[in-house]
Amino acid sequence: MNRRDFLKKTAIVAAGATITAPVSAMLSNAEASGLTEMDADTQTYAQLDKKVKVLLINGSPRRDGNTFCALQEIETQLQKHGVETEIFQIGAKAVRSCINCGACHRDRLGKCVFDDDICNTVIQKMSQSDALIVGSPVYYGQPNGGVLSLMQRVFFSAGHYVQNKPAAAVAVCRRGGATSAFQSMNMMFQMMNMPVVTSQYWNIVYGMNKGQAKLDTEGMQTMRTLANNMAWLLEKLHTGTYTLPEREKE
Ligand SMILES: Cc1cc2nc3c(=O)[nH]c(=O)nc-3n(C[C@H](O)[C@H](O)[C@H](O)COP(=O)(O)O)c2cc1C
Repeated sequence: MNRRDFLKKTAIVAAGATITAPVSAMLSNAEASGLTEMDADTQTYAQLDKKVKVLLINGSPRRDGNTFCALQEIETQLQKHGVETEIFQIGAKAVRSCINCGACHRDRLGKCVFDDDICNTVIQKMSQSDALIVGSPVYYGQPNGGVLSLMQRVFFSAGHYVQNKPAAAVAVCRRGGATSAFQSMNMMFQMMNMPVVTSQYWNIVYGMNKGQAKLDTEGMQTMRTLANNMAWLLEKLHTGTYTLPEREKE
C-alpha cells in the first residue's frame, strides 16, 4: 500500500471514530433529553453531555508571553460558548524537525517514530480534540522554528487526526512579518483538509514585551471574533446531521 492509500484508509477510520461518533453521541443526548428538532438548533454545548474541545497550541517559548495573551483571549471567549479548551505550551525544550524517514507511514504508526519530544503528546491531544488553533510568535517574518517543526511532524505522521477539523492560526509580532507567518500556518491547514476559521481581520496581534498584546485592543477583538466564529462553526458541525465531504481518488 502506498502512502496516499494508507493516508486515505486511516482517514476513513479516523473520520468515523473522531467525528461521526461524537456527533451521533450528541444527537442521542439531545434526543434523550427530549429536545425537539427546533430546540436542538438553539441549544448550546453546555446543555449537551459531551462538550466539543478546542486545542490551542502556544508555540512561544515564553509561557506567559504575548502569544499566550492572544490565546487566552480566545479561550475565555470559547468558554463563554460552553466550549472546552486546553492551551498546550510548546515551551522552551527542543522540538525535532521532520527528517522524512517515512517510518510513520511505512510502519503505520499513526504518530512520529521519534518519541523524545512533545510531538506525540500533541498528536494524542489532537486526536481527542474537535478543532485546532495554533498561535505563534513571528520570528523573521515566519512562525518560529518550534511551531514549524511540530506542525510538519504532526501533520505528516498523523494527518488522519486533523482532517475535517476546523483550524485557525494566530500570529503575534512586534512590528512586521505577521501576514507571512499567518499565511505559512494556514497553508498547512489547507493541505490537511481542515476548514480554516476566519475573523474580522487576519488573526494578528501586536506586542513586544510580555503582556503588551493585551493593549492591542483591535487585535484582542479579532481574537474574540475568531472564538465566536469557531464556536459557531463547531455548533453547526456537531449539532446537525452532516456527511463528510467526498474525497476524489488521487
Ligand atoms: C528571534 C526573533 C525574531 C523576531 N522576529 C520578528 C519579526 O520578524 N517581526 C516582528 O515584528 N517581531 C519579531 N520578533 C518579536 C516577537 O515576535 C515579539 O516579541 C512577540 O511578542 C513574541 O511573542 P511571545 O511573547 O509570545 O514570545 C522576533 C523575536 C525574536 C526572539
